[in-house]
Amino acid sequence: MKTSLESAYRQAVERYLAEACRAGEELPQRELYRAMAYSLNAGGKRLRPIFVLEFCRMCGGDWEKALPLAAAIEMVHTYSLIHDDLPCMDDDDLRRGRPTNHKVFGEAMAVLAGDGLLTEAFSQIAAAPLPAEVRLQAVALLAGCAGPRGMVGGQALDMKSQERACTEEEVLAIQSRKTGALIRAACQMGVLAGGGGEQALSAAGTFAEKLGLAFQIRDDLLDAIGSEQELGKATGVDGEKNTFLRLYGQDACQEMVEKLTREAVAALEPFPDRAEMTALAQKLTTRRN
Ligand code: IPE
Ligand code: IPE
Ligand code: MG
Ligand code: MG
Ligand code: MG
Repeated sequence: MKTSLESAYRQAVERYLAEACRAGEELPQRELYRAMAYSLNAGGKRLRPIFVLEFCRMCGGDWEKALPLAAAIEMVHTYSLIHDDLPCMDDDDLRRGRPTNHKVFGEAMAVLAGDGLLTEAFSQIAAAPLPAEVRLQAVALLAGCAGPRGMVGGQALDMKSQERACTEEEVLAIQSRKTGALIRAACQMGVLAGGGGEQALSAAGTFAEKLGLAFQIRDDLLDAIGSEQELGKATGVDGEKNTFLRLYGQDACQEMVEKLTREAVAALEPFPDRAEMTALAQKLTTRRN
């Protein structure tokens, strides 16, 4: 993606997210808002919001009107990270280059910060400057992808699978839900905001499924080959987890990342203006953070 477009998206998202948390400064529960803002405004690649905005633009929409949807997906994603790091889940101390939410605010406040971000996401969509029909479709899509059939379902499978070694099919079932589902929500919400039809929705869905899987395989690979400094989170912590890395090793996994990315890019064929998204997808195959 042209740096100018990507950085314009990122800047707009950063500004929007900072503003969204400022709303709570005057309220008695400002500590909760501080905990939400701590994780939300801690950097992060903002990949999912960028997908929302770029798919909206690729469908001919005004990306600025999709900003509340971009913020919503980042809120849900950030909530998933706060909860993922809790002692009862992955028990991590570092995230986005900072101590994890529960390390700073305590476990109760970290759980509540996640809850707050999840619910605020849906308020954002409800109030977006888009037709009511589009907002309704976006709410249904995000709820489906974030909930027990999607990300939460994947996290549940991930937790339960730690007692044994999983097959490829089982790993696929975990990863497509815990990571793939939110990436699909991002891409397809962008299509909805941009006024794209069934064909665009389906193409964005295929792109997201392939790219989401490549993204999680690269995440698992970086856990083995990346550094804490680059990633902003601890490395070498997922060795015992049920991942493709454990099943097939590093070289085969990087080949899978590249093959899945080629398939993702091929799915973009119905979008005439796909050069930026193609470049972004390709860049992710060698990402270091
Ligand atoms: C991390 O997601 C969790 C996974 C789903 C692999 P990201 O790598 O997008 O994390 P941030 O948003 O940049 O911190
Ligand atoms: C995270 O998977 C998926 C979600 C947060 C939904 P990981 O547990 O591998 O993510 P990191 O490595 O902690 O970011
Ligand atoms: Mg996890
Ligand atoms: Mg984790
Ligand atoms: Mg990981």
